[in-house]
Amino acid sequence: MCGIVGYIGTRDAYPILVKGLKRLEYRGYDSAGVALLNGDIAIYKKKGKVSDLEDHVRGKETKSTIGIGHTRWATHGEPSDLNAHPHHSEKGLFTIIHNGIIENYTVLKKTLMDQGMKFYSETDTEVLANLIEYIYTSEDVSVEVAVSLALQKVVGAYGLLVISSEDPNLMIAARRSSPLVIGLGNNEYFIASDATPIAEYTDRVIYLNNDDIALIRRDELVLKNLVSDATKVNIKTLERGIFEIEKQGYEHFMLKEIFEQPRSIMDTFRGRIQTETNEIRLGGLLDVKDQLVNAKRIVVIACGTSWHAGLVGEYLIEDLARIPVEVEYASEFRYRNPLIGPDDVVLAISQSGETADTLAAIQLARDAGALVLGICNVVGSSISRETHAGVYTHAGIEIGVASTKAFTTQLTVLTMMAIMIGKEKGLLSDQRFSQLIKELNDVPGKIEKILEQNEEFKRIAEICKDATNALYLGRGVSFPVALEGALKLKEISYIHAEGYPAAEMKHGPIALIDEKMPVVFIATRDGSYEKIVSNIQEVKARNGMVIAIVTEGDTIIREMADHVIEIPESDESLVSLTAVVPLQLIAYHIALMRGCDVDQPRNLAKSVTVE
Ligand code: G6P
Repeated sequence: MCGIVGYIGTRDAYPILVKGLKRLEYRGYDSAGVALLNGDIAIYKKKGKVSDLEDHVRGKETKSTIGIGHTRWATHGEPSDLNAHPHHSEKGLFTIIHNGIIENYTVLKKTLMDQGMKFYSETDTEVLANLIEYIYTSEDVSVEVAVSLALQKVVGAYGLLVISSEDPNLMIAARRSSPLVIGLGNNEYFIASDATPIAEYTDRVIYLNNDDIALIRRDELVLKNLVSDATKVNIKTLERGIFEIEKQGYEHFMLKEIFEQPRSIMDTFRGRIQTETNEIRLGGLLDVKDQLVNAKRIVVIACGTSWHAGLVGEYLIEDLARIPVEVEYASEFRYRNPLIGPDDVVLAISQSGETADTLAAIQLARDAGALVLGICNVVGSSISRETHAGVYTHAGIEIGVASTKAFTTQLTVLTMMAIMIGKEKGLLSDQRFSQLIKELNDVPGKIEKILEQNEEFKRIAEICKDATNALYLGRGVSFPVALEGALKLKEISYIHAEGYPAAEMKHGPIALIDEKMPVVFIATRDGSYEKIVSNIQEVKARNGMVIAIVTEGDTIIREMADHVIEIPESDESLVSLTAVVPLQLIAYHIALMRGCDVDQPRNLAKSVTVE
């Protein structure tokens, strides 16, 4: 979703902004632009990719040491050169880039139009630029005060940067519900909507809190808060270096991230599994462990792939820890009247830690008195700060819009949580505990073996690449894997795909089956093996094309299925961690063969910071 980058210092701003915008491309966008302040403000913006913006700017004046840049993901007004950011105010005194949505923009726009102000774009952002200018000129206040007063009139979410020819050595950054990070350099500051554009310049950062407003000059940063006096400058150190953001020889970030899974899963459990003491120690949950272990109910809130991880968590926690779990879409949870209270433990799962619906659902749960825990990947993200306690997945930066390593590391955390609670409650014998721990330790090695079959996944992709529909089926803990496999395919290849519990096939999807539609079964050897074999036969009886993911050495399904993928044997509770990997790679190859933009699929955003 929209990306922000800003620079103020002594270097040439334009190359820093363009590089930053490229780093933000992974978030998903449809247009890009920059504004460069050098006496006047020059604005260049273009629908399309950052490279289109570069073509547009080539040969034009870019000299400046203060500038702001933006990648836009359209909400108000179609993607176009005109609607792209930055936007300037009517007289051109203020230039602004903005993430989020100004919900009361129609009311504000009408008021400003009544005052005779003109608007050129369809965006809510231009309304804010004009509102600032209107206050500045009519109330005769400073740039800083005009911005603060304008923000107090705004309902909605924003992360924004403002520059003004009226105070040319100042950049203003402000946030409400849409993240902003300031990187601290030597007489220079780098500002962005996430740390990826900043990481190569500095590892010292400040994450803005809600209603913070930062007044940034080359040699000074003043942080204030619009609603309280208690602003504390809290400098954090970024965890990961720039090497994480490069493709390292892989054709796409998604492919790199799929291949990183053995390492990222190890990073997730490293130091948390203590084999000598037969213990799982999740540092972030120590203070709330008793409440978690004794929870009467756990409610998971999440979106997208993280929601699928939550479904796996439901199976694991109910099976191993015997606590009832409900898994809710955050967007649904927040808009109904959910039964939630102080006896509940709410578990928010989010890769980015910035998903607007998940954040709002967390707030609702907190207000109702529930203990709210988080499973997040991005350190210092809003969700990691808004929850009472939590566990980081430590997957490293995930750039590919289609989430892969974030999913398997979320599953790793959920597995550890379920085992930990089960052990604490005395539900798992020492032997079962040790067996599960060993299984978890073995997962990275098993994924390595699966990754070695990449050529085989390519072959299967070649067979499926022209399909218009696909069905993914699984039972038990493999049902969420089926959902995730279908999601990967539709996200990046634009083939319509559905995931279903295998037994539900008879109640609808069976009508779709013909010899052209791939039906992917997750059919590993577990408690429902016989049942899934019957489901495969039902598809074959209707001339369906079956691709089956089976346990190594399976001969029964090999006889029936058209294509078989073998994965190493594993405990039923952990099978989702391995079974999803072939599905990720098959989706990747199909998308590539169809000429799709794998890392930046159309219309999708990595981090959905609007409702
Ligand atoms: C977007 C992304 C998905 C992700 C979902 C939830 O839709 O494209 O990959 O699963 O948001 O994001 P979160 O960061 O909260 O896990």
